[in-house]
Amino acid sequence: MVFGRVKPLDAILATAEKKSLHRSLGAFQLTMLGIGAVIGTGIFVLTAEAAQKAGPGMMISFVIAGFVCAFAALCYAEMAAMVPVSGSAYTYSYAVMGELIAWMVGWALILEYAVAAGAVSVGWSGYVVGLAENALGIDIPSTWVLGPFDGGMINLPAMAIAGLVTWLLVIGTRESATVNAILVVIKVAALTLFIALAVPVMNMENFEPFAPLGIGGIGAAAASIFFAYVGFDAVSTAAEETKNPQRNMPIGLIGSLAICTVFYLLVAAGVIGTVGAQPVGIDAATGHALEPGSRALASACGAIGDQAVVCSKEALAWTMREIGWPQVGNLIGLAAGLALPSVILMMMFGQTRIFFVMSRDGLLPQAFSRIHPKFHTPHVITIITGIAVALFAAFFPVGQLANISNSGTLFAFAAVSIAVMTIRRTDPTRHRPFKTPMIFVTAPIAVLGCIYLFFNLDHKSITLFLIWAAVGLVVYFLYSRSRSYVGRGIIDVHEDDPDAPPQPVPPIP
Ligand code: ALA
Repeated sequence: MVFGRVKPLDAILATAEKKSLHRSLGAFQLTMLGIGAVIGTGIFVLTAEAAQKAGPGMMISFVIAGFVCAFAALCYAEMAAMVPVSGSAYTYSYAVMGELIAWMVGWALILEYAVAAGAVSVGWSGYVVGLAENALGIDIPSTWVLGPFDGGMINLPAMAIAGLVTWLLVIGTRESATVNAILVVIKVAALTLFIALAVPVMNMENFEPFAPLGIGGIGAAAASIFFAYVGFDAVSTAAEETKNPQRNMPIGLIGSLAICTVFYLLVAAGVIGTVGAQPVGIDAATGHALEPGSRALASACGAIGDQAVVCSKEALAWTMREIGWPQVGNLIGLAAGLALPSVILMMMFGQTRIFFVMSRDGLLPQAFSRIHPKFHTPHVITIITGIAVALFAAFFPVGQLANISNSGTLFAFAAVSIAVMTIRRTDPTRHRPFKTPMIFVTAPIAVLGCIYLFFNLDHKSITLFLIWAAVGLVVYFLYSRSRSYVGRGIIDVHEDDPDAPPQPVPPIP
């Protein structure tokens, strides 16, 4: 019975109790944590890609993606308050839908976190290179700062930042609440400045034609821009460190999402209204536009001297320079340069934590949860993750990485939404500190929204996801299933505590 291996909720909760991390985070810190993880490459960089896909209609794309995330966040909030433990969607699925689904969710989360870290590294590179060129007058050949699909060869700055973040994680850096708060202020200040300068000088004619690529373009842009909202689920991983998680978890999840949505809509309007956001190179015959992150678009942009926001790797800074605020453009570049590494750090930290929990459950090799004797960090898995992230960042365009990451995230969000409905039926009396309002309406909308966005991703990303899932199934049945602790009758595993005594492990059957 493949769905039979459920890790009992009470065992998961008992493990969390034993660890008794200090509960110090309140609603405000959680909201800051959410904003810290959410605002990043999506708004700073992918706005240009969304414009190439949807034109001014990307405003609707932001609303659609935000809407799907809000419904998923309501489902996450019930789970996070009820099961306030590490591991996020993976742990919830293990408790409700069994090991196989949990494995698939954990496997998909690898796409979410590691590939997203690669995407944000590429986004960071775009801004830092732009800053070096505009503020310092350093001309860097694109061969070294763009991947091969974008018209370069290798993105060295993106690799470097991924390497630096890996090193920080290995030596045990965890962003403190104070550093996070400072970086949130920097990001929010940069976006506020952008809005304050752009929105008052908008030209409403720039919103016409509103949807040059039709509803299909708006859907495709929504599927990409979904990336801009990813990260709020990082809040749920802090559940064990939250005071009164029952109240504060939903506020943190939904509050951070709501604040980001308002900022995104205003920033998108500012871009469209000032510099216009029409796609470049629409093929009149097919009605399609050139693909973002393709050589074809790179050369079409070259032909117009990169004079369109869709050609920019640093859309917001470029917009500011175009409307006569070059110094503010540089400041925005500086803000992105300072703040985006923390998004990479959170994504990579989330990744190592998921690997770590899966390894402690016996589903991945024990070496993955090996702890460094001096730094007390899971260095093996951190370094493996870092190498993968650096390679993604070196060779792939930001939009492609974001879409691949979205495919995994959408799968995980759908799984959590299904889990929360299922457990309402299978365990109706369990104490639910936060109840998703109208669960049997909210959760199905979240699932359908995820399916809609998933099928609006580009074909390459969908195919890659399916191949990844198939590989995951093979690994599960060849390796993990026989080694699973739950399968071997050990359910009370100390998930995160490196000092926990070794468990008696029965032999693999
Ligand atoms: N939402 C995060 C970003 O946009 C992942 O960078």
